[in-house]
Amino acid sequence: MSGKSLAGRKALVTGGARGIGAAIAQALAQAGASIMIADILEEAGRASAAAIAKEDVATGFAQLDVTDDAQWERAVAKTVATLGGYDILINNAGIEITSLISEVRAEDARRMCDVNIVGTVLGMKHAFRAMRPGGPAGKGGAVVNIASVAATIAFPSIAVYSGTKSAVDRMTRVGAMEAGKLGFGVRVNCIYPGLIPTDMGMQLANDIVKIGLAPDVNAAVGSVVEQTPLGKLAEVGDIANAAVFLCSNEARFITGIGLPVDGGMGM
Ligand SMILES: NC(=O)c1ccc[n+]([C@@H]2O[C@H](COP(=O)([O-])OP(=O)(O)OC[C@H]3O[C@@H](n4cnc5c(N)ncnc54)[C@H](O)[C@@H]3O)[C@@H](O)[C@H]2O)c1
Repeated sequence: MSGKSLAGRKALVTGGARGIGAAIAQALAQAGASIMIADILEEAGRASAAAIAKEDVATGFAQLDVTDDAQWERAVAKTVATLGGYDILINNAGIEITSLISEVRAEDARRMCDVNIVGTVLGMKHAFRAMRPGGPAGKGGAVVNIASVAATIAFPSIAVYSGTKSAVDRMTRVGAMEAGKLGFGVRVNCIYPGLIPTDMGMQLANDIVKIGLAPDVNAAVGSVVEQTPLGKLAEVGDIANAAVFLCSNEARFITGIGLPVDGGMGM
């Protein structure tokens, strides 16, 4: 995509301190949107916002644990006050704790459900309230939830994570249905990224070796590449480009979809 397809738009990006979230924030800013980075990591979050500031768009940082309803309320209020509106939510924050089902720990399973499922639905809740007619932003908008190729395949050692991402996928459809039918003017879509060597992606590759599913990290990554028709891993920019498109007016009649950006791995 080229040009300023998101000029004047106001976006909140969760998990925007690093990885995929930071890349999406950068791409939205390059497309003309103002950006609120929201994360539990304050220093990295502020650095991510500062890196964007040179795009000549307004930026800010909001401390946000996505599992906390009250913190969401404050982050959205700060976004509206700082950026002068709110019409894009990138629900990107997520965690992955690798384990075979035979070894899974209940507290890890609950933590993934809390961040990946509860965090995502709270994001949609506060976006709908702010963006719908009569809300403090009130101009409608676009939500992009970051699911995963894991929602579409069966990869050993990530059962609970895959389940939470399937939940994100399904909540996207229900969110799109509610926002459409209730006249909120908000489109809701999700993206299924393939494996990307971010902190999370490399941690997974290392965990696969520890569990004994691959002899070394190269073999772990190699097995994913082998299952990918385009023959390589995704890059953060690939996900960012898809997010920019889904938020743009070019996607104005697209809602309730899951867009694979996975080199064909999940087909
Ligand atoms: N990297 C991959 O291979 C891959 C593939 C498919 C999907 N995804 C999804 O993409 C998203 C981003 O992944 P990434 O690879 O950039 O991960 P990452 O671990 O590099 O970054 C995740 C970011 O989310 C933040 N975060 C975590 N818990 C949070 C919470 N409770 N509240 C607020 N922020 C929180 C972290 O501080 C971090 O900045 C996640 O939802 C992940 O599940 C990643």
